[in-house]
Amino acid sequence: MPKDDRLVQTSQLEDEELLERSIRPKRFADYIGQTGVTDQLKIYIEAAKMRGESLDHVLFSGPPGLGKTTLAGIIAAEMGVELKITSGPAITRAADLAAIVTNLGEGDVLFIDEIHRLNRAVEEVLYSAMEDFAIDIVTGKGPMASSIRLGLPHFTLIGATTKSGSLSAPLRDRFGVLAKFDLYTNEELSQILRRTAGILDVRIDDESTMLLASRSRGTPRVANRLLKRVRDFSMVMGDGSIDREMVLKTLDILNIDELGLEDLDRRILRLIITSFKGGPVGIDTIAASLGEERVTIEDVYEPYLMQLGLLHRTPKGRIVTDAAYIHLGLPVPVREAVSKAQEEETEEQIKLW
Ligand code: ADE
Repeated sequence: MPKDDRLVQTSQLEDEELLERSIRPKRFADYIGQTGVTDQLKIYIEAAKMRGESLDHVLFSGPPGLGKTTLAGIIAAEMGVELKITSGPAITRAADLAAIVTNLGEGDVLFIDEIHRLNRAVEEVLYSAMEDFAIDIVTGKGPMASSIRLGLPHFTLIGATTKSGSLSAPLRDRFGVLAKFDLYTNEELSQILRRTAGILDVRIDDESTMLLASRSRGTPRVANRLLKRVRDFSMVMGDGSIDREMVLKTLDILNIDELGLEDLDRRILRLIITSFKGGPVGIDTIAASLGEERVTIEDVYEPYLMQLGLLHRTPKGRIVTDAAYIHLGLPVPVREAVSKAQEEETEEQIKLW
């Protein structure tokens, strides 16, 4: 097969990436959490196999690092087909997409990460590829132009997006399965960490996996990254095994606090408090003030801050909660206290009434 730069070539992978792949579960049996998604998918896969058909197209949505690519790999393995991986920004022209889909085998899974970033022209080609398993190739120009319909194998598109809301309606409507990924619980992250530690052949006690899990912002990618960093510290400064003391030392050096917040999380909260009186303030203003990308703040940082109840998204902008002031050791503003008291008083009056 000719080399295609738009697809990931295994030979180009760095050691780190290879390690990353070795710790990825390959089958449902090893995939922890997201049961709302996996329970459904297992049924659809079994039904598709019973009918001898390809699986319907699937849209994964949710914050980055939650195992969407991993699950796409598992789906391909369970269906017994190949997985091809690409991303929205990598497919710039309709011809790029045509080259990818015409090289797929019957039933193959095509994974398009960041699918909300496909441009219009590419999206148009994708519609007929998804719906009719065919694409129209235009040959010639002007009055000589004509179009040839090219049939494609019946493939499964798995699209992944951090924002299902920014997908165009025609594209979203062409997915038969819509699956939303949630942040993981600490218990699930602990299980993932124990599994990864086994693959990396590193000794870690249960207290340490739970501690690491609680600082991993509900995200397996963060949990596994932290585990590898603690392993580094432990190899150099200890005996290679991981205990509570080693975890705490590493977290301290990485500036990760008791809630799992990093520097940027704290900078976001502090900015809203000190420069905007706790909000509301627009996301673009926050991004510009911190010199960070809006998407990074929206997709990577805010979901966890919201899950912790430190930040709310409102129609007027972002606001921080009292818990954010308390976490940063800042005095909770009196107006909040007054309005709370008033709220309680009103509630009392309603009850009496
Ligand atoms: N690594 C990343 N996501 C995972 C998951 N859900 N289960 C097990 N290992 C993982």
